[in-house]
Amino acid sequence: MKLHIKSNVSWVGKIDWELRKFHGDEYSTHRGSTYNSYLIEEEKVALIDTVWIPFAKEYVENLRKIIDLKKIDYVIANHAESDHSGALPELMSHIPDTPIYCTANGIKFLRGHYHQDWNFHAVKTGDRLSLGKKELIFIEAPMLHWPDTMFCYLTGDNILFSNDGFGQHYASEFMFNDLVDQAELMAECIKYYANILTPFSQSVDKKIKEVLSFNLPVDIICTSHGVIWRDNPVQIIEQYLKWANNYKENQITIVYDTMWNGTRVMAENIASGIKQSDQKVNVKLYNLSKSDKNDVITEIFKSKAILVGSPTINRGILTAVAALLEEIKGLRFQGKKAAAFGCYGWSGESVKVISENLESAGFKVVDAGIRSLWNPDTKSIETCVEYGKKVAGLFN
Ligand code: FEO
Repeated sequence: MKLHIKSNVSWVGKIDWELRKFHGDEYSTHRGSTYNSYLIEEEKVALIDTVWIPFAKEYVENLRKIIDLKKIDYVIANHAESDHSGALPELMSHIPDTPIYCTANGIKFLRGHYHQDWNFHAVKTGDRLSLGKKELIFIEAPMLHWPDTMFCYLTGDNILFSNDGFGQHYASEFMFNDLVDQAELMAECIKYYANILTPFSQSVDKKIKEVLSFNLPVDIICTSHGVIWRDNPVQIIEQYLKWANNYKENQITIVYDTMWNGTRVMAENIASGIKQSDQKVNVKLYNLSKSDKNDVITEIFKSKAILVGSPTINRGILTAVAALLEEIKGLRFQGKKAAAFGCYGWSGESVKVISENLESAGFKVVDAGIRSLWNPDTKSIETCVEYGKKVAGLFN
C-alpha cells in the first residue's frame, strides 16, 4: 500500500487493526495502531523509519512493489524502538550498504537490538542531507521519548517527521487528521501523551519551543503512529504545550479497589459529598480491578486531584491499587493534589501506605485521609460525605 501525502512524499507503513496491547502488555490499544514509514522520492530517495517486527516481510514485499530497493539512497531511523526499526534487518538484507542516518544514540541502540554493523551515519541537530532540490534537516529530540529520538524536516514541502511525538495509537484507513472522528482522535492523543510522554513534559515544552524558534513553516506533521496532521497541524503542537505544563481540568478522579464493598461505599459517598459541595467539578470513579489501567491514567492526567482507596490487607493495600501507585510514581505527574481512604478491620495501615506512596509520586497530599472500621455504618457514611465536602474545598 502506498498513500500519497504531498509532492513526492508517500506513506508506506502498516495499519495494525488487531493490536490491543503495546509495549508488551503495558499499554492498551483499543483502536489498534499504525506503524508509519515514509518514502521521499526526489532526485535522491530517502526512506524514513520502518514497521514493527511481525510485519517486516510484508512491509519489505510491499516496498519492493513500489520501488526497486536499490534505488533507496538513504534510510533514516528517527528512533530505534522495535515498532519503527523492526523491519530494518529484513530491509538491510536486500540493501546492506545503504547508509542509515540516525543519532549517535540511535547507532548504539540499533546495534544493541540487532547486533549488525550497518553503514551508520550519526547526525546532530542542524545537519542537512540533500535530496536534490530539497533537503532533510535533522533535529535531535532526546527523551521524546527515548535518548535516541530525533525528528527530521523536509524543506520545500514543509513536512515535519516527528516520530512518536504528536502520535496516537489509532488505526484508520483514512490516515489523515481531517478525515477521522475528532473525538476519537483527541481521546487517543491525550491517552498517548498521559501514558507515554508525561515524564518528559519538560523536554516536550523545551523541544517544541526550540523547533518553533527555527521559524520553519510546518504544513504537515508526519508522526510514526496514527494519523498524519495535514489540517491545521499547529493544533496538536498547541495541545502538547498545554499538556506539558501541569495540565489539569476541573476533574476529581476517585480510584479504589474493594474486597467486600466497604471501600466502594466509601468512594461513592465521598463522591456524593464532593458533588454536594461543588456542582461544577467532574467527579469520576474507577474500580481499578475492573478498569483499564491506561484509561485510568488518562483520567488522572486530566484531574486536578485524585482520591485513592484500598482496604487494609496484610498490613498493606490491594495489588491493583499498589500497581497503579507504582505506575504513577514513574509518570511523575506535576501540580496535582491527592488524599487516601479505605476500610479496615483491625490494623488499618492502608490509608497511611497510600498517602506515603502518593507523596513519593509527587502529589500534594492534603490531609491524613479517612478510614472506616468494618463496613461503613450510617455514621461512617455521613463522615464520608462530610469528608467529600471538605476535600472538594482542599482540592481547589
Ligand atoms: Fe513508537 Fe518509541 O516507539
